[in-house]
Amino acid sequence: MKQEKGAEGFSENYWLENYADVDDMDGMYNARDHAHYLKAVFALDQIAIRSIADFGFGPGHLFSAALDTFKPYRSLGLEPSASAFIKAQTVLKRYQPQLLQTDLASWCRDSSQHKRFDLGICTSVLQYLNDQELAAVIPTLALRVKYLYLTVPTAAEQQRFVEEYQFVDQYAYSRTRQQYRELLSPHFTVVSSRLLESKQFYNDQTSDFTEDLFRF
Ligand SMILES: C[S@@+](CC[C@H](N)C(=O)[O-])C[C@H]1O[C@@H](n2cnc3c(N)ncnc32)[C@H](O)[C@@H]1O
Repeated sequence: MKQEKGAEGFSENYWLENYADVDDMDGMYNARDHAHYLKAVFALDQIAIRSIADFGFGPGHLFSAALDTFKPYRSLGLEPSASAFIKAQTVLKRYQPQLLQTDLASWCRDSSQHKRFDLGICTSVLQYLNDQELAAVIPTLALRVKYLYLTVPTAAEQQRFVEEYQFVDQYAYSRTRQQYRELLSPHFTVVSSRLLESKQFYNDQTSDFTEDLFRF
């Protein structure tokens, strides 16, 4: 069972337990591959990405790779954990994003956040939000980002981590693929692997993603 709430920022225990071995951790060793994939998938359909927000940037490697690759004129990063927030500032400094030490649900509740972003990044974060937070956050994200680069481990993947690596993330909630899809599908369309398009901004007629077969 969860010992700490992600929204309050994790203590050093989380980082020691979950980041003991970062060499094969998705988003760390392959941060640049994620950014190159995004660059290519948007370029194929001639979609410009000029503003980026990362919701829970952690050590900041993926966010940094995305900023380096897209060179957006405006960028924002959220991270509630003090130690990650401080350490990532070194990694992110040269890109000068706006950085807020806050959690996703608080940022979504803050109605003074009027700015919209072309691309939101939320990798391996939603499993730390409780059901109430998720229900409030997902519709708000659809209003604030055109596209969302999303990864979140499902219950089946969490089970695989246990079986293959004896890794248990005691801070994470466990939800099935079906549960995540039911939460996401009223607000986002899947347009590519890990990539969602906001239904607040686009529909089948107005989307810039041209492959009709791959819209879910
Ligand atoms: C597994 S790490 C992923 C970090 C980064 N997104 C990446 O892909 O490398 C999870 C991160 O989510 C942050 N987090 C946890 N709960 C959060 C919340 N409610 N809002 C925003 N970030 C949260 C943690 O502090 C941690 O930095």
